[in-house]
Amino acid sequence: MRGIVFFTDSRAHEDVTVFDTTLRDGEQTPGIAFTFEQKIEIARQLSAIGVHTIEAGFPASSTAEKETVAAIKKLGLETNICGLARSVKADVDACIDCDVDMIHVFIPTSDIQRENTINKTREQVLEITGEIIGYARDHVSRCMFSPMDATRTEPDYLVEVCRAAKKAGATIINIPDTVGVIAPSGMKALMTRLAKEVDCPLDVHCHNDFGLAVANTVAAVEAGASQVQVTVNGLGERAGNADLAQTVMILESIYGVNTGIKKERLVETSRLISRFSGIGIAPTQPVVGENVFSHESGIHTQGVLKRSDTFEPGIMTPEMVGHRRRLTLGKHVGRHAVRQMLAETHIEPDDTQLDIIVEKVKAIASKGKRVTDADLYEIAGSVMGTGVGKKVFRLDDIAIMTGNHVIPTASVRAQVNGTEHVFSSVGNGPVDAALKAIVGIIPARIQLTEFHIEAISGGSDAICHVTIAVADEHGKIYDASGSGDDIVLASVDALVNAINLTSRE
Ligand code: KIV
Ligand code: ZN
Repeated sequence: MRGIVFFTDSRAHEDVTVFDTTLRDGEQTPGIAFTFEQKIEIARQLSAIGVHTIEAGFPASSTAEKETVAAIKKLGLETNICGLARSVKADVDACIDCDVDMIHVFIPTSDIQRENTINKTREQVLEITGEIIGYARDHVSRCMFSPMDATRTEPDYLVEVCRAAKKAGATIINIPDTVGVIAPSGMKALMTRLAKEVDCPLDVHCHNDFGLAVANTVAAVEAGASQVQVTVNGLGERAGNADLAQTVMILESIYGVNTGIKKERLVETSRLISRFSGIGIAPTQPVVGENVFSHESGIHTQGVLKRSDTFEPGIMTPEMVGHRRRLTLGKHVGRHAVRQMLAETHIEPDDTQLDIIVEKVKAIASKGKRVTDADLYEIAGSVMGTGVGKKVFRLDDIAIMTGNHVIPTASVRAQVNGTEHVFSSVGNGPVDAALKAIVGIIPARIQLTEFHIEAISGGSDAICHVTIAVADEHGKIYDASGSGDDIVLASVDALVNAINLTSRE
């Protein structure tokens, strides 16, 4: 499928271009405020993965916002930088001051928004649209126009506004489903009409109030949209916007459309934004969630071990999106998976031992408890009478200092293969400091890939259960847990257990 290629720049070879608004609509997610440094890092990441245009912010909204947009533009990224503006000159001027490559002007066009927000008639909106786009185009070569609440705008009037925008110099028209109310069939019909009656490249911006943002975005592409607006992890107002990873993978893998995105960096990008936004990635989140390439039940793991696309899409593999395949230990686990997981660390139980190990794993998992790699090796060691193997890392002492006027600091004394080491580290909090001090001691490079904490009982004296996953130098993941009434020590236990797995002999 080929969309319309409309920009003559270095990133114009894509069939459909990706416009990312994580820094603008994404930051409008209730409770999110990225720091200046985070915004710079996000912009760099989005550019590095091949996003065509970054909506860096809404310069007129505050001095800080304006400075940030200007700073992002000054980074000199390969990506185009866009600023948002209401249809007033002061907003457009704020964008011009930031030297952006593109100005995105919007105005409400549905009766409900027009009457209740700007209080203008349809004719006045037509007039303002023409004037503001003309003004913007006097200063920048690219101007995107959004008739806000397009999907609730009377269709004949929508066509009229879009034509007026094009006539005034809009280089692309964005069709926003501002309150997320259209269905894919409706979006396809609307975009088909606009593509026929408005001679301008079309872009689409969908909200996810009914969970249809990605489907509607894809439907718009089917009807001829040549650009899609997305956010990382689907952040955005209310239920958010169309998710970048999902939109890209559907377009690339199912439709064979080239988006120019480096798909193998999707998981990494999602994790970066999750860390900065404080909004976790659901295990079941498509493309990037922890469970997407995880297999538990006997039939599935057996099939996947033979041929991965038996129970995976095949047109989307973990390698493609920077993920990993994982066999997990749960109540549905089968003998094949357990045998394979043990074989990876050279543990080879006979058939009878394997049956007992599987039963024990299932018994623990049926109680709703996660069975980690460390648990599996412990069970195997006890069933096979081999113990859990030599522990390479032994923690002797840990001291942690924290408070309202001190930087959390941890000092660790530990034995690595019988040799004593001492290390100290500061951190964002006592847990962070403690884990960094431990990681600082070990010679092999390991990376913390997962940290999960749950309080087992209520109250401030609750027992907490920490699960940690680490990746060794080869990218192999090991998980282990620790429990106790001290959140720092439970975390430390989990990390030490995981480290000892990475160095099992
Ligand atoms: O949802 C919306 O309509 C918007 C506009 C500013 C495009 O975010
Ligand atoms: Zn929006």
